[in-house]
Amino acid sequence: MRKIAVITSKGGTGKTTTSINFGHAAAMMGKRTLMVDCDAQGSLSLAFGLNGVQGLSDLLLTDRVDIYNVRQNLFLVGSGKSDIYLVERYLVQQADLDYPLARALDRFTGVDIAILDCSPSINIVNSNVLNYVDSVLIPVSMDYFAMEGVALTLKIVDEIVNDSKRNIQILGILPTFFDSRTKISKTILGEVKEKYGDKVFESMIRINTQIKESQLYHKTIFEYAPYSYGAYDYYRFAKEALQKLSG
Ligand SMILES: Nc1ncnc2c1ncn2[C@@H]1O[C@H](COP(=O)(O)OP(=O)(O)OP(=O)(O)O)[C@@H](O)[C@H]1O
Ligand SMILES: [Mg+2]
Repeated sequence: MRKIAVITSKGGTGKTTTSINFGHAAAMMGKRTLMVDCDAQGSLSLAFGLNGVQGLSDLLLTDRVDIYNVRQNLFLVGSGKSDIYLVERYLVQQADLDYPLARALDRFTGVDIAILDCSPSINIVNSNVLNYVDSVLIPVSMDYFAMEGVALTLKIVDEIVNDSKRNIQILGILPTFFDSRTKISKTILGEVKEKYGDKVFESMIRINTQIKESQLYHKTIFEYAPYSYGAYDYYRFAKEALQKLSG
């Protein structure tokens, strides 16, 4: 089983969108896939029409959780009903404050891939996530702050690796919101590739309004607009990511 955090410290770079569509693509490619909403905003849960159900925060606080079979081969643990502040407070009171999430999620062994959609912050839930996963996927939108977010995220991953003596693979940096009409997209993409070399996926995700629309209708891009380039980009990316995971 492979466990992947979709994570970066910058907000709005396409983490949740990548979790949704990578999750569905992997499921369609025959991988039993579990998505976990680790963000109290609950966007991943909402994208599949789940609202106010027992999820990760309840699992941590009460040991109770519901798993939803949202599509064939695709499962979802929502962000949960319990208040995130209570979760943070609970975690800081634990002697091994960076590990309760790993302990709680270790029971989910019946899938091939777990995808953890993270919040855009440096917090104790995210350090718990990094102590559970074996790899990270970092979406970078085509702007300066997002690029700085990659550097900070890699630094945090490095620190966790050093502290925990566990290895975490950089599955890759995924360029998102690419707009070929703008100079800034090309400049940022060039800089990201120059700085991070083969850590950057060959696939990238272009700006595509249908991706935004699909979420309003609680659909993945493959259901909402299978012939859009959003669907093409995420399918191509998923193939590349699965190849990297098995290689
Ligand atoms: N390729 C794309 N083209 C157009 N819109 C997109 C694309 N990817 C994501 N979006 C839209 O951009 C917004 C932010 O995306 P998303 O929620 O996936 O980012 P995020 O990194 O999860 O944000 P947060 O940091 O708040 O969790 C959403 O409204 C989403 O529908
Ligand atoms: Mg998100």
